[in-house]
Amino acid sequence: MYVELKHINKNYGNFQASKDVSFGIEQGKLVALLGPSGSGKTTILRMIAGLEHPNSGEILIDGKVVNDIPATKRGIGFVFQSYALFRYMTVFDNVAFGLEIQKVPKDEIKKRVLELIELVGLKGMEKRYPNQLSGGQRQRVAFARALAPNPSILLLDEPFAAIDAKVRQELRSWLKNMIEKLGVTSIFVTHDQDEAIEVADEIIITNKGRVEQKGTPIEVYQNPKTAFTASFFGQPSELVDYKQFNTFKDLKNVDKVFVRPEFVKVTKKSEQQFYKTSAVEGVIEQIFFRGNTLELVVRVGDNVFTARRGLDEELVEIGEKVDIFLYRIFVTSGDEAHLVQNQSIREESLVI
Ligand SMILES: Nc1ncnc2c1ncn2[C@@H]1O[C@H](COP(=O)(O)OP(=O)(O)OP(=O)(O)O)[C@@H](O)[C@H]1O
Ligand SMILES: [Mg+2]
Repeated sequence: MYVELKHINKNYGNFQASKDVSFGIEQGKLVALLGPSGSGKTTILRMIAGLEHPNSGEILIDGKVVNDIPATKRGIGFVFQSYALFRYMTVFDNVAFGLEIQKVPKDEIKKRVLELIELVGLKGMEKRYPNQLSGGQRQRVAFARALAPNPSILLLDEPFAAIDAKVRQELRSWLKNMIEKLGVTSIFVTHDQDEAIEVADEIIITNKGRVEQKGTPIEVYQNPKTAFTASFFGQPSELVDYKQFNTFKDLKNVDKVFVRPEFVKVTKKSEQQFYKTSAVEGVIEQIFFRGNTLELVVRVGDNVFTARRGLDEELVEIGEKVDIFLYRIFVTSGDEAHLVQNQSIREESLVI
């Protein structure tokens, strides 16, 4: 493991912002820290950078404990949000900043800075000031500035937070390609699940100062191991009374039940219903057009949840009665979560 945290605890006064945090990151990987606000993501990043110090536990970089190594000696680049550019410095001077501090010779600085500005696609803009750039361009400058001293680790704290959706999308793939090309081990913080899924090699889910789960996006998506991850990842809806679905009968130790939109089959009354005995009637309460799908808010008894239908299917209307079938659900008991399949899929497909 190139970056390793071992049993890290961090207090701010009486408040514990990191609780027994342990994880490792392999060299060259791009890892996302994903979790709700206040779950301790920035705290973790700042401790790796050496800007905060853990109360206990060890941080290792390339096999060496770095707890007592100051931030400037850790070989880390940090990208903050866009306002972190120096407003009164040009693009060139912003990117050169770290190298100036290291007293790198002027001609070397010039070469490296121009190279980086070209790399991030801002050639010709060296003399501009941050307020003469778009949000996306500013983030590219911040990225070039962090890379200038050739860090072995790059940390990015919500790098796209201040940027509008379209540019954000472009920057995501740009960042992923860039990091792959450079091979620099990178950790980025995000609130945005889609961003984490799309960009990261691995996702670390944080909640209340703890690490809930770590894995590839697909592993974590398909197999949430903790109650929190099941309740947080993949647009889950909580079912207040799963018994109203007449299906999942013999569950034991159920604390909460969640469904994701892709677990729900919505069938119009006029359409053929494959799962006759285990479908229940529901009502469409809201419809949102999401570009390539329709997102539906459906009610079955006291349960209100999100489902989807494709645009190639016949349209449904608000107030329309439909049949609802759940392929599967997530059940949580205590801190754990597991997936329960609807048994009637097997039984009824035998009849058909
Ligand atoms: N310097 C500090 N002094 C006291 N409490 C702090 C300090 N920094 C952070 N905290 C607290 O620690 C907790 C974790 O903060 P942190 O900034 O790591 O969260 P985060 O996951 O990055 O949240 P966000 O997504 O909102 O940025 C929060 O409850 C925060 O209020
Ligand atoms: Mg934060």
